[in-house]
Amino acid sequence: MCGIVGALGNKNIVNEVLYGLKTLEYRGYDSAGIAIYGKKLTIFKNKGRVKDLEKKLLNKKINNKFAFAHTRWATHGEPSKKNAHPHNVGAVTIVHNGIIENYQEIKNKYEFSKFYTSDTDSEVIAHLINFYFKKTTNFLDAFILALKELKGSYAIAAFCNKEPDKVLVSSFNAPLILAKNNVNIYFSSDISALLKFSNQFTYLKNKDIGILNLNSFILMNNKKRILKRDTFLTNLSAEDTSLGNYEHYMLKEIFEQPLSVDNTIKSLIDKNKILSSAFGEDSIKIFNNINHISLIGCGTSYHAGLVSKFWFQEYSNLTCEVNVASEFTLNKKIKNTLFIAISQSGETADTLSAIRNIKKSNLGNTLSIINRESSTLQRLTDLSFHTKAGVEIGVASTKAFTTQLISLYALAICIGKTKKLINISSEKKLVKTILDIPKKIKKILANTNKISTLTKHLNGYSAVIYIARSILYPIALEGSLKMKEISYLFAHSYPSGELKHGPLALISKGFPVVCLIANNGLKNKILSNLKEVESRGANVIIFTNDKEVFNQNKKNSFFIDVKDSNLNPLLFNIPLQLFAYYYAKSIGTDIDKPRNLAKSVTVE
Ligand code: F6R
Repeated sequence: MCGIVGALGNKNIVNEVLYGLKTLEYRGYDSAGIAIYGKKLTIFKNKGRVKDLEKKLLNKKINNKFAFAHTRWATHGEPSKKNAHPHNVGAVTIVHNGIIENYQEIKNKYEFSKFYTSDTDSEVIAHLINFYFKKTTNFLDAFILALKELKGSYAIAAFCNKEPDKVLVSSFNAPLILAKNNVNIYFSSDISALLKFSNQFTYLKNKDIGILNLNSFILMNNKKRILKRDTFLTNLSAEDTSLGNYEHYMLKEIFEQPLSVDNTIKSLIDKNKILSSAFGEDSIKIFNNINHISLIGCGTSYHAGLVSKFWFQEYSNLTCEVNVASEFTLNKKIKNTLFIAISQSGETADTLSAIRNIKKSNLGNTLSIINRESSTLQRLTDLSFHTKAGVEIGVASTKAFTTQLISLYALAICIGKTKKLINISSEKKLVKTILDIPKKIKKILANTNKISTLTKHLNGYSAVIYIARSILYPIALEGSLKMKEISYLFAHSYPSGELKHGPLALISKGFPVVCLIANNGLKNKILSNLKEVESRGANVIIFTNDKEVFNQNKKNSFFIDVKDSNLNPLLFNIPLQLFAYYYAKSIGTDIDKPRNLAKSVTVE
């Protein structure tokens, strides 16, 4: 995890780097630091947020040639000033995102322990470059030699005060991008930090080395051969990352969902047809050959996979399994499997690792659903669809999830169509229901007061259970994940039929139970489960699209206007996001940056 950002040039360097660092706080926010070079190198760092670092820098921002900064999500060593980056050893200063798996081995081999000042894995990089610099007296050679010994993942920026005309950068299995404008040169973990300064970016490929100076940058490999890398243009802008009039990014992003879904639909559908080309050039060839689908993701993206399993079974008539990426194993090879990786960031280490293993073992074709164009996952997979959620900043994923769902729904139909299971007129009907979704989301968002009132049922309790059945069970999982993440309330989900097999023992008078009731063939079964908890004193909160259930429970229920059972997940999801949001707000947690979490999880 962690975010790094830097700039070289002559204008506004420190202000721009601090601005960029704030936008990277989603990657970690337990400590922050910056190295600034004007006439000499100065390092500032602290435990806590970028805004605290900023206070230290007041009046120290002028006449600097470069600055690079880091915001940390602790892995090795507690959040503290001494563990914050940059790390300086002798002539060398570095910032690092990733994990150096063999840092202990290197520390022992070169006896760095005596001089070690932090508990981090990252500090070893500064020691190692400094060690080689003393031997070679050449910064680039020292950098290359040090990189060769590192195992794990890294995005590194390094500075040597004996060669202050340059900054060296490199990355391996961690994102790093370069950009420039007429005045400055930039690097960052993510384009969002730089959208204010440029819209043209160059991604480093694994092990590329960048040499950056005040006016330009070049890329080379570790044999010093110059490399050419494509640049890509984005139409995202800095406004996409602004809070506007909202109190929290999470709320803003919940309210952006009609637009995000609409934008996503526009790149999936044309003239009542789902475009197979939206998933990539070879999609038809690949879709024709698949017999099995294996979905891979983490957290919220995993939940999107769980929902879509129902759609792949129904519309594509395929067997389908869903895997938590960190648990993915290669032991069951099924011929003609399409592996679908779902990831908002496209940079999640667990998901990338699963896909890399699949590719290495040549197990089948891969497709990614990502919300970041040119992300590592997109570049790794054979086919890809870029959801148009726009930049998501709140750590708890909302609009990205909804656009993942709509994309997977369209993909299931598209595969079914390619396999001739869905004819033109059925496709047209399905497309019409998709086109209606943004309107229906808007309708839910117009009625948020009721949801806010329902959160009162949670007051005074230290846990809540969510129950649902079938395709809504993953939505209960997602709803309870949102609740845990942002309110720290212990929230757990069960398929409602499972209660009697154990969890019912948890229910006592007043215990809150959130119940998702769909107006379909399962209604009576879940109503029986509801009775089971009610008769044991549970305090029930109902989300339903069944008018009768709603009318009988007006005080403690919320009505969702959706008729098509297969689309229930898309709409039931929205009030659950708001339910978690309003509860977290009522107890005053840090909603956009909940404790212990980061948005882009780049460690395994
Ligand atoms: C929860 C949340 C996480 C992410 C997970 C995977 O609100 O955002 O559970 O879904 O870390 O991230 P991506 O989708 O970037 O792979």
